[in-house]
Amino acid sequence: MTEKNNRTGKFIVFEGLDGSGKTKHIGLLKEHLVQRGRRIHVTTEPTNSQLGGMLRDALSGITQRSPCEMAALFLLDRIFHNVNPVSGINKMLSDGYDVICDRYYYSSLAYQGTETDFDWVLAMNINCPEIRRPDLCIFLDLDPDICIKRLQRRTTTDIYETKERLEKYRAAYFRVFDLLDDRVIVVNTADEIVVAAEKIAKAADDICNIT
Ligand code: TYD
Repeated sequence: MTEKNNRTGKFIVFEGLDGSGKTKHIGLLKEHLVQRGRRIHVTTEPTNSQLGGMLRDALSGITQRSPCEMAALFLLDRIFHNVNPVSGINKMLSDGYDVICDRYYYSSLAYQGTETDFDWVLAMNINCPEIRRPDLCIFLDLDPDICIKRLQRRTTTDIYETKERLEKYRAAYFRVFDLLDDRVIVVNTADEIVVAAEKIAKAADDICNIT
């Protein structure tokens, strides 16, 4: 085995309100790290599992779920996301891939933690031995007004995408970052895209020890 194959990868999470630019910036960071010789696995929550399907039905309003049901489903989907032996986060990291994840427990704390008992959502995510803590969280910050304008260009919306809700979730994200010891950087995506991308690349280089 080469040295590269022996290396455990880094776990990087992107967070941000719907419409904040996560998909674009994940693509740019992947390109950046691949150019530096890293192997990258991009993944997302909800996952593509059956649980993810149940969550997507609830997000689109096809099925009605209570806030506690949503929190519990996201938790179960996240545990599966960590431990599934084929392409789970643990497996990919131990195979030497850096894992870039679109949303993680910060979303549950900001969204479900606002809609139901925050301490319960916090405890079950943070105390769960099968939910790994990320090496880095990149929060893409954008005014909820601009997020809503961007979302209007999409053909579908989900149950959380109203301006009032996004304002509450944004405030909740900042409370969560203050509360946790996690390594978090906040990047304003109202900036020029290259400016934001440079900040993100630098933070990722730091944790991957790229000089
Ligand atoms: P989706 O359209 O899949 O992605 P995005 O908005 O990030 O482009 O939407 C995922 C939705 O699920 C989004 O509204 C946030 C929500 N969500 C939670 O409420 N809690 C969670 O734990 C996660 C992972 C997502």
